[in-house]
Amino acid sequence: MQRAVFTHVRSHDWTQFKLINLRIWQCSSVYRALPVQFISRAYSVIPTPRDLTEKEMLDSMLRVDHAGEYGANRIYAGQMAVLGRSQTGPVIQEMWDQEKRHLAKFNDILSENRVRPTLFLPIWNVAGFLLGAGTALLGKKGAMACTVAVEESISEHYNSQIRSLMEEDPDRYVELLHVIKEFRDDELEHHDTGLEHDAESLPGYKILKSAIQLGCSAAIYISQRV
Ligand SMILES: [Fe+2]
Ligand SMILES: [Fe+2]
Repeated sequence: MQRAVFTHVRSHDWTQFKLINLRIWQCSSVYRALPVQFISRAYSVIPTPRDLTEKEMLDSMLRVDHAGEYGANRIYAGQMAVLGRSQTGPVIQEMWDQEKRHLAKFNDILSENRVRPTLFLPIWNVAGFLLGAGTALLGKKGAMACTVAVEESISEHYNSQIRSLMEEDPDRYVELLHVIKEFRDDELEHHDTGLEHDAESLPGYKILKSAIQLGCSAAIYISQRV
């Protein structure tokens, strides 16, 4: 299992190196002095920001969504490392495949719009994998309890973003709303899959769920800001 952790960590090194370079550029005074049209390239999902305030609002939203999908991928990778060959393997794999699609979409949106990802990506890489593998070591119910906790947090987070964007300007953010709503529905499906696979019958389910959701809230708070 230790070997699996390092293999997964290594495969993300190059991406992280490029993202760190992007972060250095975005911290520079040259970047800050450029008009917003120069530092943001329009992508079908995101409107060209009107000003720096809107750019920062959208950057923060996209950054935390990307971090969430990245973390979810690492959790399912950890679960598969432990339970991949069990009867539950195909169920986890199916959810992981959807998370891969979510992450690929946010990777595209981030790079097309020159949004830097959270600096905490290397932490979410290891923490996500350990959370997935650690709960999967409790067995199928443990893995599913983790899935219920995480997916509930992510879908609630998406719901609050949907509310904010709807209040702000639903027409302006119609494409982004479409993506977030679609992903929110997938996360709710994952949540229900966890419940259908006896998550709630894990001894200490409520305590574990609360602890994981506390961690998710902290990760969301950090990823929005750093
Ligand atoms: Fe997802
Ligand atoms: Fe999910």
